[in-house]
Amino acid sequence: MTVKTVISSKTILITGATSGIGLALFNHYSTQGYYKVIACGRDAKKLALLSNRAYKTCLFDLNDADDIKQQLADIDDIDIVILNAGDCRYIDDAKHFDGQLFSDIISTNLSSLGWLLQYTLPKIKKGGQLVFVSSSATILPFPRSEAYGASKAGMDYLANSLRLDLLKENIDVTLVHPGFVKTPLTDKNDFTMPFLITSDEAAKRIISGVEKRKKYLHFPKRLTLLLKFFSLLPSSLWQAIIAKRDKT
Ligand SMILES: NC(=O)c1ccc[n+]([C@@H]2O[C@H](COP(=O)([O-])OP(=O)(O)OC[C@H]3O[C@@H](n4cnc5c(N)ncnc54)[C@H](OP(=O)(O)O)[C@@H]3O)[C@@H](O)[C@H]2O)c1
Repeated sequence: MTVKTVISSKTILITGATSGIGLALFNHYSTQGYYKVIACGRDAKKLALLSNRAYKTCLFDLNDADDIKQQLADIDDIDIVILNAGDCRYIDDAKHFDGQLFSDIISTNLSSLGWLLQYTLPKIKKGGQLVFVSSSATILPFPRSEAYGASKAGMDYLANSLRLDLLKENIDVTLVHPGFVKTPLTDKNDFTMPFLITSDEAAKRIISGVEKRKKYLHFPKRLTLLLKFFSLLPSSLWQAIIAKRDKT
């Protein structure tokens, strides 16, 4: 862990700061001169590249509760925590369900949040903010997304429930539903991703929403509003659309 002294008024912790959306958030906040940015990642080499601009770097795998505890131990007060790190893997053969894959994704994307909250929430100041980067995949069920979708749906419930309990602590919770964002995570996808946006665009939407203390963010709206519209229709219609797509 590296520590630097800077005069700044807000401390912000970002998980998954080494790639994609998290890196774009890090790049923005760390160049403002106003934020002390704590960058979290699991890849020592990638994290080292951020150390010049980071207030601190914390190296841990989301699946290692002891490492999370140890790396976050000497952090003092935090203003904003952005829980962004996550992974996506698909269930390719539902009939021969991959239990290990399911367990791994739930552990990385959902169970880890319990540890991150245990070790960061007591340090979030009154008036602070907690941000969950979930996914627009929770608006509608998508094929092959049993593991990823379930992990993010769990995150949604966690965020919405926690918001109620943190009212008395004066800590605001923002839940983010991004659509498709071009990052190493989606570069692996073998299907067309409609309305794909850059990680910079995604970061700008998140930063603006966090500044406004929004409870809920979803973007790009041309995708998320379409998904919301379909979610209001009978599920048989969505099923028919997916079945037709699978035939072509
Ligand atoms: N891209 C999209 O279209 C999209 C859409 C909706 C939601 N999201 C969500 O946005 C978040 C960021 O995704 P992204 O697209 O920016 O992906 P990304 O480029 O792959 O970045 C993911 C980040 O999470 C870290 N991470 C992954 N598994 C980890 C683990 N086990 N322990 C510690 N860190 C781990 C990665 O670390 P390494 O650098 O070491 O890999 C990386 O910093 C994720 O929660 C994702 O589900 C993305």
